[in-house]
Amino acid sequence: QVEFSLRPRYLSEYIGQAHAKENLKVYIEAAKMRNEALDHVLLYGPPGLGKTTLSHIIANELGANIQTTSGPAIERPGDLAALLTNLQPYDLLFIDEIHRLNRSVEEVLYPAMEDYALDILIGKGPSARSVRLDLPPFTLVGATTRAGSLSSPLRDRFGVVSRLEYYTVEDLTLIVLRAADLLQVGIQEQGALEIALRSRGTPRVANRLLKRVRDFVQVQGDGIITGEAARSALDRIQVDRLGLDQVDHRLLLSIIENFRGGPVGLDTIAATIGEEAHTVEDVYEPYLMQIGFLQRTPRGRMVTMQCCEHFGKAWPK
Ligand code: ADE
Repeated sequence: QVEFSLRPRYLSEYIGQAHAKENLKVYIEAAKMRNEALDHVLLYGPPGLGKTTLSHIIANELGANIQTTSGPAIERPGDLAALLTNLQPYDLLFIDEIHRLNRSVEEVLYPAMEDYALDILIGKGPSARSVRLDLPPFTLVGATTRAGSLSSPLRDRFGVVSRLEYYTVEDLTLIVLRAADLLQVGIQEQGALEIALRSRGTPRVANRLLKRVRDFVQVQGDGIITGEAARSALDRIQVDRLGLDQVDHRLLLSIIENFRGGPVGLDTIAATIGEEAHTVEDVYEPYLMQIGFLQRTPRGRMVTMQCCEHFGKAWPK
């Protein structure tokens, strides 16, 4: 519950992602002026950057209800039909991990998105016929970590496509200060900066680190998050200067030590560190590539020289 209350509820409270935010503000305003449903919105980018938060904000700004679900949760076309027929006019339907919808479900979505209609097949064999059911105007908000793995007919049906970027340290510092205020923990600017620096561009990580640092200052310190208190707590929980945690360390060190720096296949590396391949690919790798520590090549994953330097290892090439 605390996690949810940290989430901003309106665009005016939402920090960062200026590009996505400013454009959405216009589209929302325009839809309201015309009394229309907002066009369907696709949000994409690495995990933890606020796709779910933004979808709730869009609903709040529109004064609409939101139903949330995820691609893997909608197993059969009937599951989707049930969701769609429960919507009120102008409601939002949020589908997380929309790239994981199965084909038969996706096909129900096309006429729903395009014409606000549901085509239902009645009967079997030669007497089977299709009946069209009208849906209320609604807005589909899809979220995905990979826009590239969306089928193109689905991608083409989104009128608004918004890419979320990693947050700057300045924006993350503001997010940490705001969250500290909501959590009622004392914090100095320097303390917020230390947390922001190790949050890998991701508010979800920043808020998690803030809560752990708060535990340390409240139990072992004077209750105030100073720069020094934040540094020492973050060292204790083994988040390094670049925000890399134990899983990142195992991943990178395993490539360096067991595979001579790579290239090594995704499945091999995932099995070596005991994580699922899609977790490695969607959660860990994007940031490691962003900071130039990891490369994806046709022959597999490779670490970079910068990565070896960070760990004080010789470049194995
Ligand atoms: N908490 C998490 N993400 C946030 C954001 N973008 N702005 C303000 N608070 C947040």
